[in-house]
Amino acid sequence: MGHLGEEQLERARRLIALYPERRSALIPLCHLAQAQHGWLTPEAIEDIAGLLGITPAEVQGTASFYDMLHTEPVGRHVVAVCTNIACMLAGAYELLEHAEAHLGVHVGQTTEDGEFTLEESECLAGCDIAPCAQVNHRFFGPLDEAGFDALVAELRAGTLSEVVPPHGVLCRVERAVGLLAHRQEGPGDGAAEEGGAGGEGLGGGPGGGGARP
Ligand code: FES
Repeated sequence: MGHLGEEQLERARRLIALYPERRSALIPLCHLAQAQHGWLTPEAIEDIAGLLGITPAEVQGTASFYDMLHTEPVGRHVVAVCTNIACMLAGAYELLEHAEAHLGVHVGQTTEDGEFTLEESECLAGCDIAPCAQVNHRFFGPLDEAGFDALVAELRAGTLSEVVPPHGVLCRVERAVGLLAHRQEGPGDGAAEEGGAGGEGLGGGPGGGGARP
C-alpha cells in the first residue's frame, strides 16, 4: 500500500543515475516518495533503502532530520506559520493562536477530516510578507486573521489547487534534460545511463506560487 509505485520506481532509478554515489540520491528519493503518499511511509522507506543499498534506519535517520520530510501522516495541506523575528513583530503569535482556534487543533496536530496539519516554523525567508505562512511550501502573506480564514476556506473548496498541489509535490513539471553522472556501475547496478536526456529534477523548493506579491 505504502510502497513506491512502478512510475516512482522508474523515476527513482533515473534519479540515482544522476549521482556518482547511489546514496547521494537519498533526499531526492525521499521527496519522490513523499510526493506519492504525502508522507514517507515505512514501506517507501524500505523501498528507498533497497534502491540505495543502505538500511531503512539510515533513511529514517536522514528523513527525520529535515522539516520538509514527514515520517508520520500529515493532512492534505500542511500549514506552517512562521513565528521568527520579523513575523513575530508583525503579529505571528496572535496569528498562530487564531489558526489553532480556527482549525481546532494545536501545533503539530492534524484536523479530523485530514485536511490540515498545523506547524510552527522558523524563518521561511518570507520576511518581506510578514506575518507569513506556507501551505505545502507555497507562500502566503502578509496574513491577518481574516486572511487566514479566507485562505483556509479556499483550500477547503479546492479553488487554490492550481497554486497549491497536494502535500509532498514540490514541482509538477519534470525536468526533461539535465546532467547525468558517468558513474561506474557496481554489481547488480543497472541504473546508470551514459549521456543523453532523461534526467529529472525534484527541485522547486520553497516559493513556487501562493500569494506572494
Ligand atoms: S521571520 Fe518569518 S519569514 Fe522570516
